[in-house]
Amino acid sequence: MEVERVQAIVSSSLAKDNIPLEFVRPEDEQPAITTFHGPIPDIPVIDFNHPDQDHIIHLIAKSSRDWGIFQVVNHGIPFDLIQKLQQVGKEFFDLPQEEKEVYAKPPGAPTLEGYGSTIGKDVNGKKNWADHLFHKIWPASCINHQFWPKNPPSYRSVNEEYAQEVRKVVDKLFKWLSMGLGLEADVLKQGAGGEEIEYMMKINYYPPCPRPDLTLGVTSHTDLSAMTVLVPNEVPGLQVFKDGHWIDAKYIPGALIIHIGDQIEILSNGMYKAVLHRTTVDKEKTRMSWPVFLEPPGEFVVGPLPQLVDPQIPPKYKPKKFKDYSYCKFHKLPQY
Ligand code: OGA
Ligand code: NI
Repeated sequence: MEVERVQAIVSSSLAKDNIPLEFVRPEDEQPAITTFHGPIPDIPVIDFNHPDQDHIIHLIAKSSRDWGIFQVVNHGIPFDLIQKLQQVGKEFFDLPQEEKEVYAKPPGAPTLEGYGSTIGKDVNGKKNWADHLFHKIWPASCINHQFWPKNPPSYRSVNEEYAQEVRKVVDKLFKWLSMGLGLEADVLKQGAGGEEIEYMMKINYYPPCPRPDLTLGVTSHTDLSAMTVLVPNEVPGLQVFKDGHWIDAKYIPGALIIHIGDQIEILSNGMYKAVLHRTTVDKEKTRMSWPVFLEPPGEFVVGPLPQLVDPQIPPKYKPKKFKDYSYCKFHKLPQY
């Protein structure tokens, strides 16, 4: 069976004014019907250069409780490195289809890594208007270079440099998130796998779509990760579910979008919330994004931090190996 990349469907004339039925979402998911347009607050923006660390901690904790998502400015990653990350990713997706297929996710492989389209089975057989590339970028021992594009030639050095910069931001986030719970600075990082936390890079490629009103790039989900650090391009599309409404994330050049994922929700015993989000696509423009998912090693057990549990506040989640949690999530099975 031929694999159909969304990018290939778009460049053939298969989708001129309309889109194949498997991309048409049921009405209760269609963005034209379900996007909120009234006045609503923006996703919180946090400035890491603020002189008062307690203020930063307060904002991070509040945003993680109320929203599960926030944007960070002045995070320390040079803007030109972010631009290079975007450029080499774009150059990969601009390669001829056959060249990209060299990196295709091997069928039946135990890893998500590689070039692919919709992950897993949608309950109603629907597909996402997106292609993607996954590969781990840290720690060195878990990197599979077979999934890193050789073209453009600077792809590797740019991603290596980005990994080092992202680690610094992640360490600060873990520290401040822990302190925001009134705990020692290292508890969340240790609870998510410590130095063995795996950094999974994903590039999302959302080609232009003749019917953006009917389809989604990624359907509504929370991230499986502990947290996700995402760089978007300038084409809007990320939406978050807040107080019963789907609202658009504002694009701030150079900002990082931080998602609280399932594992931090579990560690914090529900004090921090994994954000429900999805993406829409554009009629004329290609949207791209570069999330890095911070994941515990598969055998690592994640459960509510003991400091946050007592007879008055019972654990809301059962401790579980990350690989078992992932399996249930991908197969849409109950977690507990
Ligand atoms: C994802 C995701 C959001 C985006 O890949 O898990 O939610 O902005 N992406 O592309
Ligand atoms: Ni996501």
